[in-house]
Amino acid sequence: MEFNKINAQLLAAIRSIVGKEAALTDRNELEPYSHDETEDLHFYPEVVVKPRTVEEVSALLSLCNENRIPVTARGAGTGLSGGALPVKGGLLIAMERFNQILAIDEQNLQATVEPGVITEVFMNAVAEKGLLYPVDPASKGSCFIGGNVSHGSGGPRVVKYGTIREYILNLEVVLPNGEVIWTGANTLKYASGYNLTQLLIGSEGTLGIITKIVTKLIPRPTQDALLLASFGTNESACAAVSAIFRAGVIPSALEFMERRGVEWVMEHDHLSFDLKDGIGAFLLIEVDGNNQDTIFADCEKINSVLEEFDCKEVLFADTATQKEELWRLRRTMAVSVKSNTVYKEEDTVVPRAALPQLIKGIKETGAKYGFESVCYGHAGDGNVHVNIIKAGMSDEDWHNNLKAGINEIFELTVALGGTLSGEHGIGLVQKEFMPIKYSEVHFNLWRGIKKVFDPNGILNPGKIF
Ligand code: LAC
Ligand code: ZN
Repeated sequence: MEFNKINAQLLAAIRSIVGKEAALTDRNELEPYSHDETEDLHFYPEVVVKPRTVEEVSALLSLCNENRIPVTARGAGTGLSGGALPVKGGLLIAMERFNQILAIDEQNLQATVEPGVITEVFMNAVAEKGLLYPVDPASKGSCFIGGNVSHGSGGPRVVKYGTIREYILNLEVVLPNGEVIWTGANTLKYASGYNLTQLLIGSEGTLGIITKIVTKLIPRPTQDALLLASFGTNESACAAVSAIFRAGVIPSALEFMERRGVEWVMEHDHLSFDLKDGIGAFLLIEVDGNNQDTIFADCEKINSVLEEFDCKEVLFADTATQKEELWRLRRTMAVSVKSNTVYKEEDTVVPRAALPQLIKGIKETGAKYGFESVCYGHAGDGNVHVNIIKAGMSDEDWHNNLKAGINEIFELTVALGGTLSGEHGIGLVQKEFMPIKYSEVHFNLWRGIKKVFDPNGILNPGKIF
């Protein structure tokens, strides 16, 4: 695809759409928009704009479409697959001024929000009305809901409540030619042909730019219990996971943490935690509901399962503070690893019962190729984040030989019935591994869809496939 640069005339046109103040060109001002949370990658856009209205987004897109200017939409930049990186330069549309919660409809348990609302801000706003929006990625305190939609995000509560796919009813989207559509209807059921809402979710800004989001909400459970189970090995922790469901319990979170991850959080966050010798892995298990007796009975069931899997100790969080600390331990793992070392983040997902084989294979592959990894993630979903750390690896091995190891991890993931990413998206950094799972038939279908939405290929070029 041949693209043009933003010349003085186009810059003037961009400024006339959004106003002079909302278009940045100074290199220092562009810097924060040149990277996200993915490794240490930097790509500078030519211009950053901060539109405030759908009309402005529409005018920007039709201008760029006519002039073949690449356009990358950006949320909060917390992505881990390079989805928001403007790899071809061009215009970066920062959605940060789309930051209003437009309506919380308590009659229908729905809300309408703009994409630049911070996920946790939205969660808290609906919580005040006794409602729950359960899609809470680890970065909920800083990520935007628009980025979550674009990546098909998950998080710890997916295991009971589902991914963001189950909470998005309708989207207002600007197409590359400037047309504005609503993708569906604000209804819980939808059998009106091809589902454009679901197509847009997880499309990583390659098909259109989302300007309004209608979400489903649910009543907020009033009680929960949190427990931390310690195991000697990764495998025994992972083997317990599917047994918990088979015992008839669906926890509201079931997270896996390797010892190494906990150590790094302790170091990074100065978190005091009694990490005992002989413990190799943890499961953080939450059960929620409205009835304390039912929750207690579920915890008892979980406890009996854990005993069968060589669980060394179970710690019940007694207070809200203790719960918060345990969650902090888990939620800060990604940033702790990132701030400690050069690393690569891979997101793997397999059917839940295949988890022990996946984790064993990841470690074996590491030993074979000479890399160390810190694994943690949403065990209840069969979703493991593999943080490959550079540690003592030579630059040569890191840049040239690591790829074969990552390839092997994804081959195993696919052989176990899984796929490349459960929740972080494909973006820039995972796309080279897509052929491990998907054939030319898939690629052709995707290319066809892309062409219908974006015939000139201006939207987030260089991503997914
Ligand atoms: C987490 C992010 C990295 O689960 O997905 O911590
Ligand atoms: Zn995660």
